[in-house]
Amino acid sequence: MDWFSYRDGALHAEQVAVSRIAEQFGTPAYVYSRAGLEAGYKAYKEALNDVPHMIAYAVKANGNLAVLNLLASLGAGFDIVSVGELERVLAAGGDPATVVFSGVGKQHNEIQRALEVGVHCFNVESETELDRIQQIAESMGKRAAISLRVNPDVDAQTHPYISTGLRDNKFGIDINHALAVYQRAAEMPNIEIVGVDCHIGSQLTSGEPFIDALDRLLLLVDSLQAQGIELKHIDIGGGLGIAYNDETPPTPSDYLNTVKARLQGRNLKLVVEPGRSIAGQAGILLTEVELIKRTDHKNFAVVDAAMNDLLRPSIYSAWHGIEPVVPDDSKEALVYDIVGPICETGDFLGRGRVLRIAEGDLLAVKSAGAYGFGMSSNYNSRNRCAEIMVDGDQVHLVRRRETIAEQLAPESVLPDSQ
Ligand code: LLP
Repeated sequence: MDWFSYRDGALHAEQVAVSRIAEQFGTPAYVYSRAGLEAGYKAYKEALNDVPHMIAYAVKANGNLAVLNLLASLGAGFDIVSVGELERVLAAGGDPATVVFSGVGKQHNEIQRALEVGVHCFNVESETELDRIQQIAESMGKRAAISLRVNPDVDAQTHPYISTGLRDNKFGIDINHALAVYQRAAEMPNIEIVGVDCHIGSQLTSGEPFIDALDRLLLLVDSLQAQGIELKHIDIGGGLGIAYNDETPPTPSDYLNTVKARLQGRNLKLVVEPGRSIAGQAGILLTEVELIKRTDHKNFAVVDAAMNDLLRPSIYSAWHGIEPVVPDDSKEALVYDIVGPICETGDFLGRGRVLRIAEGDLLAVKSAGAYGFGMSSNYNSRNRCAEIMVDGDQVHLVRRRETIAEQLAPESVLPDSQ
């Protein structure tokens, strides 16, 4: 994480002292590094330069318009799961022809809009969805490009909530039924088969499950070919993990070299859908210690960020590094639970951390560029926080802090019953 490093005794985001950002924009705030995002994208780009490919960044990881715009300008495509994400991509200047549309529950209006703007393809997750797409495409006089998302029944060895490629999971079409579904799709007048897809889970720290899944997909590709169904691309999804703590996931190039070797001699474009491995290390959550609360059993550092800002520790017991922005060795080292002000015991950002801190200190919650802001909410009627992007020595506010008035605006009381 070179983009967030200590210089002159203080944490910097690229060339900017993080404490200056807090002074200017307040806390809590997400701070992203443009160089970090670019490096995340380029790690894929360089690994895939020698083969036909498309890098479809998973918008759900961090859908801020500035992030999407930056990635679009570097040539990225996008993996979306809702019409909201599609509109974000379009608003950010993304090319719809580079968009793959995933998700188990695409609605009528979402399919319609995607056909209208001309997405690259739908990653179809069920036969019912296939029928729905055929019918909508027919009514619009269009042909819909599709890829079937198959469920290869592979254990991704990750947190059960973010494992998606087991047959018990709701995702994809059972790989054993896929051939039959492709044969049906091939008969549909408004469907054009272009590929095959799978995504087995997120935060994978070993390459093996990916390769297992790929091998199963390639067997399917062979059976399809034998039936005269030729595919143009193979989409191996996202899912590559990052080092939050001491994990040692493969690099994109390590992982993709194995994938490329498996694809040699096949006329298939390689599509990937990375999210976390592009954005995760390019962001921190900046928060201030509101107060220190000591009890007979524990020390709590109550900070101004909470589970509504960063949900991962609460729902996945995820570990994020937490460090003082201006380390001060003269302060006493104590073991703290870093908690937010929300009325739930599950509202913590980290537990049992040894820190030298005092009230008013700034803390950086690390590796928060992916699934941070995107999963935030207004729980406890808290305003969603600001997002800032640093570019060299420049600081840009890319989403201003929400206001209470904005929170209340969509609501209304019952009409007078008189
Ligand atoms: N493609 C599909 C179809 C997906 O469902 C996902 C993530 C991705 C790509 C991107 O996966 P990535 O490269 O980011 O691992 N909220 C959880 C992660 C949920 C991931 C859901 N799907 C977390 O905070 O860990």
